[in-house]
Amino acid sequence: MGVRRPGRVRATFTVPPDKSISHRALIFNAIASGTARLENVLDSADVRATAACLGALGVKIDWPPGSTGATIRGSQLQGLMEPHGPLDCGNSGTSIRLLAGLLAAQPFLSVLSGDQSLNARPMARVIEPLAKMGAHVLGRCRDTLPPIVLRGGALRGISHDAPVASAQVKTALMLASLYADGPTKLGEPSPSRDHSERMLGEMGVEIGHDVEGRLEVFPAERLDPLPVKVPGDFSSAAPWLVLGACHPDAEIRLIGVNINPTRTGLLDVMRAMGANVETSEERTVGGEPVADLVASSSDLVGIEVAGADIPRTIDELPFVGLLGAFADGATVVRDAEELRTKESDRVDATASVLGAMGVEMLAADDGFSVHGGKLKGGRVDAGGDHRIGMLAGVAGALADGETSVDNDAVGVSYPTFWRDLHAAGAGKAS
Ligand code: S3P
Repeated sequence: MGVRRPGRVRATFTVPPDKSISHRALIFNAIASGTARLENVLDSADVRATAACLGALGVKIDWPPGSTGATIRGSQLQGLMEPHGPLDCGNSGTSIRLLAGLLAAQPFLSVLSGDQSLNARPMARVIEPLAKMGAHVLGRCRDTLPPIVLRGGALRGISHDAPVASAQVKTALMLASLYADGPTKLGEPSPSRDHSERMLGEMGVEIGHDVEGRLEVFPAERLDPLPVKVPGDFSSAAPWLVLGACHPDAEIRLIGVNINPTRTGLLDVMRAMGANVETSEERTVGGEPVADLVASSSDLVGIEVAGADIPRTIDELPFVGLLGAFADGATVVRDAEELRTKESDRVDATASVLGAMGVEMLAADDGFSVHGGKLKGGRVDAGGDHRIGMLAGVAGALADGETSVDNDAVGVSYPTFWRDLHAAGAGKAS
């Protein structure tokens, strides 16, 4: 895809529905006792992969191609059926990890697999605690990689302190906990996104916290169906927030964005860097806080991002690198080893995008540092990682000269990204 910098940007977008909530709305309702209507579901490759896996487990989902409305008939906690073949999660880490938790409790054999990228991503983080709960679960390379093979059965409630904050792991274990013989306690070093707690709580699951702050999930006898209207995805708002702040003459308005505080680390990072981002019309949609956001041209200064801000910013950290290229002084990201285990190694991938465009980024084991510089157009390979594809697209819309982006994979989470970038004045079909 070809991109160049528009002279002026005045745009309003309704960003796509939240990916994390769309996956959860399907998976949780798949085991509910009743039928749920879902509105504004994200019609993207990742969420379609979850729906197809659930279909193969016997769940009835009516979700016409190209539609954002779906009806799902829950199979109840015990009604899933043994699939005839391996379940293909495509590129989707959320699908494979959440489904592993669900299938660990089912009394049949299932195999979860994915594309080349997914089959290289770490799974010990779910396999080990699920095995501790009593599931029979195996993976490639000494139980660290997919495919994952599961034969579920009677599960024990456990106490598990995850070494890394991860909502995918937390949700997998929450799903398994519904079927356990007693409460399960789940600790993490700092809070990860809490959509599952909100949604499962609404569906009647008893969820609390122990005195040390661990999440405590109690076994369930049934789940009430949960009709969901999915709010706009903060992670899909991120490209526009960054374009608005870094472009010299921009004002971009975003309608209906989820501003759940476990997701909005980038807002705090941007404001600390001096970015103009206004929030208005705060309201609640589908049990989540939602607002309209406006980002406009800003003078930025470099900051350090680390610690508990990392899980709140995890999918937006590549964009922090791009903000750093427009900031005075150094922008440093630390404590983000996780960034190396996403759809690609996003430390190296971000360094390679910015490097191809003339800005040097220093990679570290747990993050990176970047100084403000001058971005120039170049030829960039996003390596099949959707967030790197969008990073390269926005970088191209901010650079001198023309940029072309290969292998962008934006269909995973934001199928209309290039159309929207074009509407902002920056797209140029090549
Ligand atoms: C997600 C959690 C995060 C995030 C991913 C979606 C989720 O992953 O990076 O894009 O929906 O729970 P981790 O849980 O591995 O941090």
